[in-house]
Amino acid sequence: MHDVSQSVELYERAGELIPGWTQLISRRADQFANGVSPVYAQRAKGSRFIDIDENEYIDWISAVGAIILGHADEVVDSAVIDQIHRGSLYSLNNPLELELADLLVDTIPSAEMVRYTKGGGEACAVAARIARGTTGRDIILFCGYHGWHDWYQAANFLVDPESGEYPFAGIEPIGIPRALAGTAIPFTYGNLPMLEALLEEHNGQVAAIMMEPLRTELPPEGYLESVRDLAHKHGALLIFDEVSSGWRLAVGGAQEYVGVTPDMTVVAKAMSNGYPMGAVVGSRAAMEPAKRMFISSSYWSDNIGLAASIATITELKRRDSARRFKEIGESLRSALNRAIEGAGLSGQCVGLHTNPMIRLDLPDETIRPKVNTLFIQEMAKRGIHCSVAFKFTLAHTEDDIQVTAQAAQEALGVIRQGLESGDVDSLLTVDIKKEPFRRLVK
Ligand SMILES: Cc1ncc(COP(=O)(O)O)c(C=O)c1O
Repeated sequence: MHDVSQSVELYERAGELIPGWTQLISRRADQFANGVSPVYAQRAKGSRFIDIDENEYIDWISAVGAIILGHADEVVDSAVIDQIHRGSLYSLNNPLELELADLLVDTIPSAEMVRYTKGGGEACAVAARIARGTTGRDIILFCGYHGWHDWYQAANFLVDPESGEYPFAGIEPIGIPRALAGTAIPFTYGNLPMLEALLEEHNGQVAAIMMEPLRTELPPEGYLESVRDLAHKHGALLIFDEVSSGWRLAVGGAQEYVGVTPDMTVVAKAMSNGYPMGAVVGSRAAMEPAKRMFISSSYWSDNIGLAASIATITELKRRDSARRFKEIGESLRSALNRAIEGAGLSGQCVGLHTNPMIRLDLPDETIRPKVNTLFIQEMAKRGIHCSVAFKFTLAHTEDDIQVTAQAAQEALGVIRQGLESGDVDSLLTVDIKKEPFRRLVK
């Protein structure tokens, strides 16, 4: 019998000690099957982890994408351990800062200069600062998710509170200065006339267009080229936030994959296989003025993230990662498609091979959150930690895929029962999954 009682107990305690329970919203219990999914882990290796109740899972969340080679990768960890023995933070700077900068310049098409941070949102805030400082302009037009900082969350003041259109249901822009309203303005992905109209409306005031170049699908033909041309026509910088799109599709990022080079790029997460690290890279013209800006923090000089990043990026190249991700992703997609068919349901895996996502054809869209939660619940019971989208590492094996597909077929069989009886609710032993993280503009 699947038992996560220690996780549940600890999570209740977290509610008393930690406002918001977790440090990252996507780690909250209500993002999975609350009460059935594990919440606390005790160790992880390769594609698997053990929760504090001693259950083992195949991990298809991969620390929200931050683990790319596999948990506790031996090459990265030995580089880190070696660095720990030589000191994790010096009073002086570490020559590794230059070694990693050279590696990033060789790897990411837009990189000529480099600054470091410890996380993705932080790196986005640095990129916003540099763009504003370099252009002498205030407004940032953006699309996608760019972290928790004021510059970005201020956009929520432009959103109608009545419609509930906040980035996350129940979280309002509390604590963000109202004075920032209008300094970051969202646009819709793929909508060039909207972007052009915003650039015209704020002519001469737009410092940058910051966007995720893609998330789950490839961009429409020519779209990113047109965004770049519009940005430059209006004297704005184009910034790609590759915190999520980076590394898996191509080691040089989505920009290498689609062949469009922005002025600046933000990377983080998978660049260091789970050790804190982020970077802003970009052209000399965009980045050099940053030497006169106040962009400074003690732990940005930390040696561990540098050592981990150098080892991770080197290993991604050595292990021919882009080709392997394609193979693993395609195999997973086919196996999941067979599971859907085998369960007698209609639907398919959609999205890029780096992020296959199960999308069932449902009689009624309103039941999708329940159906998705039922899937997560039934997969958790079978030792698979996932959402309806799958994020994997180079450590995931064909065996992991087959075991997962078998579990998926059983889980989808339960969903079929619910759909046929018209009573999905009675099969759910958990609260329905909360609204997925809404990214201001898709
Ligand atoms: C595109 C994008 N930008 C920024 C961030 C924020 O990064 P972090 O959580 O490391 O602050 C994320 C995190 O999911 C992201 O996906």
